[in-house]
Amino acid sequence: MSLEATLEELKTSALRRIEAASNLEELEVVRVEALGRKGILSSVDMGKVPAAERSGVGKLLNAVKTELTKELDARKSRFESAALQARLEGEWMDLTLPAGGVRPGALHPVTQVQRYLEDVFTSMGFAILSGPEVESEWNNFDALNIPPTHPARDMQDTFWLEGGNLLRTHTSPVQVRGMQRLGAPLRMIAPGRVFRNEEVDPSHEHTFYQLEGMMVDRDVSIAHMLFFMKTLLREIFQRDVTVRLRPGYFPFVEPGFELDIQCLICGGSGCPVCKQSGWVELLPCGLVHPNVLRSGGIDPAEWNGFAFGLGLTRLAMMRYAIDDIRLLNSGDLRFLNQFR
Ligand code: FA5
Repeated sequence: MSLEATLEELKTSALRRIEAASNLEELEVVRVEALGRKGILSSVDMGKVPAAERSGVGKLLNAVKTELTKELDARKSRFESAALQARLEGEWMDLTLPAGGVRPGALHPVTQVQRYLEDVFTSMGFAILSGPEVESEWNNFDALNIPPTHPARDMQDTFWLEGGNLLRTHTSPVQVRGMQRLGAPLRMIAPGRVFRNEEVDPSHEHTFYQLEGMMVDRDVSIAHMLFFMKTLLREIFQRDVTVRLRPGYFPFVEPGFELDIQCLICGGSGCPVCKQSGWVELLPCGLVHPNVLRSGGIDPAEWNGFAFGLGLTRLAMMRYAIDDIRLLNSGDLRFLNQFR
């Protein structure tokens, strides 16, 4: 058989196999066998072709090569577009479908109460201050008229840190920081987290929130103090709540009071939150002791003031009728989802 006839036959057979290939891998096998470096067309040894026929054979080789390449490319792109089509159909999605169940986060109930009170107090001209959770012994105790030997240090079980610092047991040290920073006259609140080495029960946490309030001016009276505390309670509960005021002892105020509210969990009949007493300690307060004004760099002969230390976590419990304080720090989404 002549070389031309052989090439023609090779071409026909390669075209048939290209047509028969059912995927890209099979097609590649055909390409390598026909056009590869060691393929059939490359094996034609032009040296053995008589000189007179060389140009004809060369042209024929090129024509076969071009035709096969064209067919291979065409078949390949058919496979590729079929694969793309299959993928598009497999990954199809309906962009017009409504988005399903995106649940946005929400503020913690204590934060909600805090933000609300911040609005109430800023509208009455109070600045919002903050202090560090790791405090010095001086700011937490000494500056508040509680010297080292004072028995009142045992009223709050303290987490002491190495080097003499402590986790603040109340927000009252921010009173001192506020006076030092802003001087008199002064209206400030300081919400924040406090820590006590306490037995935990339905109404006591070791980590809870308070909101400190302080006003320093000339001739501040208990009547002023009661006005702001009543406003606070009316705004947060949006109704009248039954309160009682009784004497309370805190070295940093003189006179000092405890303002309790009737337990809103049980309506005053007694439950674990109010320890069966019907009342919840919420708002200790009093007129600022002259020594505390001095610690803040303010002259008690010219200025006086009131201060209160609201139990913010307890207030949130009353506001939302939460019957166990431990739920608030639990991070339990079944509980938290109720406050969105
Ligand atoms: C104080 O911490 C004073 N610094 C408050 C104060 C400020 C008095 C300014 C006078 C002037 P007390 O230890 O009572 O006081 O705490 C204040 C409030 O924090 C309490 O009425 C109560 O509502 C809340 N509280 C106290 N201990 C806990 C606790 N373990 N868990 C949750 N809330 C608590």
